[in-house]
Amino acid sequence: MKLALRVGNLKPSPTLAISAKAKAMKAEGRDVVDFGAGEPDFDTPDNIKDAAINAIKGGFTKYTAVGGIPELKDAIIDKFKNDNTLEYTREEIIISCGGKHVLYNLCQALFQQGDEVIVPAPYWVSYPAMITLAGAEPVILNTGEETGFRIDTERLKESLTPKTRAIVLNSPSNPTGTVYSREELMAIYDTIKDTDILVISDEIYEKLLYEEEFVSFANLGEDAKKRTIIVNGLSKSYAMTGWRLGYAAGDSDIIRAMTSIQSQSTSNPTSISQKAGVEALRGRQDDVLKMVQEFDKRRRYIIERLNTIKGVSCIAPMGAFYVFPNISKLFGLSYKGTKVLSSTEFSSLLLKGALVTVVPGAAFGAEGYIRISYAKSLKEIEKGLDRMEGLVSNMD
Ligand SMILES: Cc1ncc(COP(=O)(O)O)c(C=O)c1O
Repeated sequence: MKLALRVGNLKPSPTLAISAKAKAMKAEGRDVVDFGAGEPDFDTPDNIKDAAINAIKGGFTKYTAVGGIPELKDAIIDKFKNDNTLEYTREEIIISCGGKHVLYNLCQALFQQGDEVIVPAPYWVSYPAMITLAGAEPVILNTGEETGFRIDTERLKESLTPKTRAIVLNSPSNPTGTVYSREELMAIYDTIKDTDILVISDEIYEKLLYEEEFVSFANLGEDAKKRTIIVNGLSKSYAMTGWRLGYAAGDSDIIRAMTSIQSQSTSNPTSISQKAGVEALRGRQDDVLKMVQEFDKRRRYIIERLNTIKGVSCIAPMGAFYVFPNISKLFGLSYKGTKVLSSTEFSSLLLKGALVTVVPGAAFGAEGYIRISYAKSLKEIEKGLDRMEGLVSNMD
């Protein structure tokens, strides 16, 4: 079958593929510990579910305004005001079918052939793919463990060209859990302030934060805010991954363009989800706080355990629900005759030899690491780490 050139190099999301594999193995009755998950293991809070049920019963089941209902836009505007001290109008907000859809619309609205977009690595797997689908070139800016996977502004400066249109920031980060402080963001701002480079600030893990206060790039001042498009959503903070709700805030021309694209593709996000979204943002927040406390317990446990496994080291992430341990010291070692030379080989060995799924760092542009999601019960985490430790201790 002849397919369009744009799908020639497009690979399905590796994280979703790994989760699908773990699910399929579980369905076959195999006792897999799945550390690949990119979603909270908590249920959507009941008050949010009730709002959706009421929406269905009340007949709120038809098309809505393409970019989202005013009621939800206003709830988002209030969230920005209260949580982030940022002011937006309805014209500066769009609601789409998940954070992913927001980013897709944004890339389509902003980028084209000849444009370059800076993507710090390790990166969330979809950024380079979406930029490429828009015809532009992702320029990967490597960061290392020595800076806690933060951007080195000298290297950022070297990556800038007249073609650079934007930089993608993701704090707290998937896959590293890295969180940027105001000072660190300011150093990035100082590097780009004399250019017209835009900042895509993916803040989807904003509420899953364990040590630092959250600061958005848009908080750095009027000019920084003007060049920032904030991407956020309800998937992670409210355990609503299946409801497909994300939103963006930024320049009204960009939001209008994104809304036009959305009007010619998906139309509005689901009417029922939008009503649930209003309740998520306006209703009680104690379930979110409980979830964060539970994630923090697991985070502390998992970091401590990982650092006792021979050949593995892990810096403490400050947000999201992932750890990104360094496994490069295991390269060159063998397990039952199979030599490990890459994160992909280690991940498949872990699945075959210990029934544990993780995502290889290579998928995030960072060889030598694996991503472990701690969106799992402590009992599962303990079981998975016991198995991993057992396998690693038999590598030589
Ligand atoms: C960094 C990051 N941005 C955006 C998304 C998209 O989230 P959603 O499920 O709302 O599309 C994800 C989901 O994994 C993510 O990790």
